[in-house]
Amino acid sequence: MKEVVPSPPPLVHNQYESVRELFSKNVVPSYGRFDLVLSHGAGSYLYDVAGKRYLDLGAGIAVCCLGHAHPAITEALVEQSRKLIHVSNLYFTEPQGRLAAELVKRLGPGKCFFANSGAEANEGLFKLARKFGHDEGRFEILTAANSFHGRTLAGIAATGQDKVKKGFEPMTPGFRHIPFNDLAAARNALSPATVAILIEGVQGEGGITPATPEYLLGLRQLCDEKKLLLFMDGVQCGHYRTGKFQSFQRILEDREGRRVADPNIQGQRHAVPPDFLPDGVSMAKSLGGGFPIGAFWVRAPYADLLGPGTHATTFGGTPLACAVALKVLEVIHRERLDENARKLGEWFKRELERLAVTFPQVVKRARGLGFMLGLELVEKEKIPKLATSDKTAAIQLVNRLHQHGVMTIPAGTQIVRLLPPLNLKPQEAGEGIARIEEAVKALA
Ligand SMILES: Cc1ncc(COP(=O)(O)O)c(C=O)c1O
Repeated sequence: MKEVVPSPPPLVHNQYESVRELFSKNVVPSYGRFDLVLSHGAGSYLYDVAGKRYLDLGAGIAVCCLGHAHPAITEALVEQSRKLIHVSNLYFTEPQGRLAAELVKRLGPGKCFFANSGAEANEGLFKLARKFGHDEGRFEILTAANSFHGRTLAGIAATGQDKVKKGFEPMTPGFRHIPFNDLAAARNALSPATVAILIEGVQGEGGITPATPEYLLGLRQLCDEKKLLLFMDGVQCGHYRTGKFQSFQRILEDREGRRVADPNIQGQRHAVPPDFLPDGVSMAKSLGGGFPIGAFWVRAPYADLLGPGTHATTFGGTPLACAVALKVLEVIHRERLDENARKLGEWFKRELERLAVTFPQVVKRARGLGFMLGLELVEKEKIPKLATSDKTAAIQLVNRLHQHGVMTIPAGTQIVRLLPPLNLKPQEAGEGIARIEEAVKALA
């Protein structure tokens, strides 16, 4: 390893100005970036070009699930890139087949398609739905208010937030929004053209709102009754972030996986198939731990709908991306990081709830589950130190947290998201809370 992967170079000069200039001259300004130029990372920490250290509780928006510069990811990249990086999907390669099998094992009988991002994974589900309903003239997909499904043209049409659509009209037809967690509204919204419903198990960009168990089970029933496909967008809330592989498995954990006596084997018990399984699940973000890869899984009855020639992407499921994704799954399993996200997440949430009790003039409530958490602030106008700025309360607190050496991510106007690496250590969680408390206290 040593000869091919040297450690990051020592900081010889602060490149802040030169990097900012490169961006302002050459990079499309489509992102509202924070005023930080980052240099390198190690574990749960990031360093800027001036050498300042930050505890990264954002993990690149729920991507770097093993933290930064994890040796297992580096090793998988080096090993696989020495062997085979890319061949196209004109051929079979072992890592793609093995990764598909691992995902199927975690979800249920079905098959996988590999892409490069979350938006592209969702695009695949949209095409699957269109194919499914095509001969009956059904094409419409219902998605939830406040949802987020990506920035492609179909992605922004699917996303239930006006801000992503503005300026890009007319929208791609075939998407309508329904209130989240409202089963009656879903039923009432159906039209003869409806073919699928897509929701996030935990809305991320919309502000950390989990689906209720009743909503998930009710949607499944509704979809069965009306011959609709039920899709879950697991791009942000998936990959063990909530303590289970997919958030719907966590939300429904008390209701599924009952074990009963197997009549064929004495004393043996087997798992009853879960009552709930969606028809499609999109994945990306943590799937590659930082290396770009997206995927969708489709349930067995529909797994062959997209036949040869119907869907493709050049870089989908390269041996390199799949080798990394396999390694990420292996580390999560070996180190029981699902349990870590669940247990440390519970502790973290209790601490955020404590902040809401201690500083009610700043913090309204804690949101979420596992390592998908939100700190909801009171209205900006009620926090004198934030009231006069034209920036949202969430962005202002994220900026202040940078000064305190912590990275977090805003969602909506009032919510600061915490999406830490799944291998965050207890003392790092403690450090994070202490720093968040300092920043919140300064606003009280
Ligand atoms: C729930 C959800 N779906 C889809 C996407 C789009 O993923 P990507 O940015 O990889 O295209 C995101 C990104 O934040 C997301 O949170």
